[in-house]
Amino acid sequence: MRTTHTLMEKKHFPVMLEEVLNICSPHRGGNYLDCTFGGGSYTKGILNFPDTNVIALDRDKSVIEIAKDFKKKFKSRFEFFHSKFSDINKVTKGKFDAVIFDLGISSIQLDDMKRSFSFKSTYKLDMSMGLSKINAYDVINFSKSEDLKKIIKIFGEEKEASKIVKNIIGKRDNKKIETADELAKIIEYSKKKNFKKKINPSTQTFQAIRIFVNKEISELINGLINATKVLKPGGKLILVSFHSLEDKIIKFYFKHYSINKSKQNKYLPIQKEKGIYLFDFYRNKILKPSENEISLNPRSRSAKLRVAVRSEKNFEEPFDLRKKFKMITDMEKKID
Ligand SMILES: C[S@@+](CC[C@H](N)C(=O)[O-])C[C@H]1O[C@@H](n2cnc3c(N)ncnc32)[C@H](O)[C@@H]1O
Repeated sequence: MRTTHTLMEKKHFPVMLEEVLNICSPHRGGNYLDCTFGGGSYTKGILNFPDTNVIALDRDKSVIEIAKDFKKKFKSRFEFFHSKFSDINKVTKGKFDAVIFDLGISSIQLDDMKRSFSFKSTYKLDMSMGLSKINAYDVINFSKSEDLKKIIKIFGEEKEASKIVKNIIGKRDNKKIETADELAKIIEYSKKKNFKKKINPSTQTFQAIRIFVNKEISELINGLINATKVLKPGGKLILVSFHSLEDKIIKFYFKHYSINKSKQNKYLPIQKEKGIYLFDFYRNKILKPSENEISLNPRSRSAKLRVAVRSEKNFEEPFDLRKKFKMITDMEKKID
């Protein structure tokens, strides 16, 4: 069986590994939290430096075998929890030099046809990353038309959601939609042909259903907040994200809760800070994969890396973040 997960590790191309390691500076040692273990490439990259320790989480039980191999090799320097990252505080009380999120699904999950993340899958619709309460089959076949439209429009930013949903409802009234490839065909004939677009016509709808099944927006918001609680002052919060909704949330959080020194007038005494300053000066800079990485791994092309540095201030609940995206998280609450 060993070959199976060694193979799984090989199948996964880590995205922006070099950039993440440069930001972490593991050559100095330190304690790290990898919230999205996956094939374990980030964790391994850090643990290859002496005097480093990593706690890793993943909601997908299929990576437990990879984590067991890591445990044998790195012993007490490595700990794995099969858990969602919204539950960080339930699994660790430690304080970290960096907390890392590499969001979305791994190539291991995408390439496993049984999980049905791929448009070509002929297995029953599922799309759960693990530890979710529903699956894509139920969302597609049993959601109210209005809810399905909102899911596809908001989570997928899909302009043609109405037509897609009309055709889904038309089909499922006769016979349930069983597989990802059936769903992809319905989406394809629902959408206007846009020859300029390079992406598959089903990309946005599949993204939307996956986000909803896994409550990815609530996960991200709770993950960000809980990660902030376990960072040391000066510790780094690092996120690699893949779609604009995720990036919007991360950007808002970092900008809204940072001390922006550039806004201070240098001729006046330093203004008393109002508001909550969880992070030091945030430059609003995005790192993207190099051309070379994109050519080796085209799936990395939409990746964006953002990093913020934890301030010395005590943690305070960032209510504005929850308020700003409440409409979206309320939609995900329908699952509870
Ligand atoms: C893009 S992959 C990470 C790959 C990893 N950085 C590597 O290089 O091997 C994302 C992983 O995060 C996991 N994941 C996604 N959302 C999660 C959540 N809310 N809690 C815990 N794990 C999550 C997925 O199951 C998947 O294995």
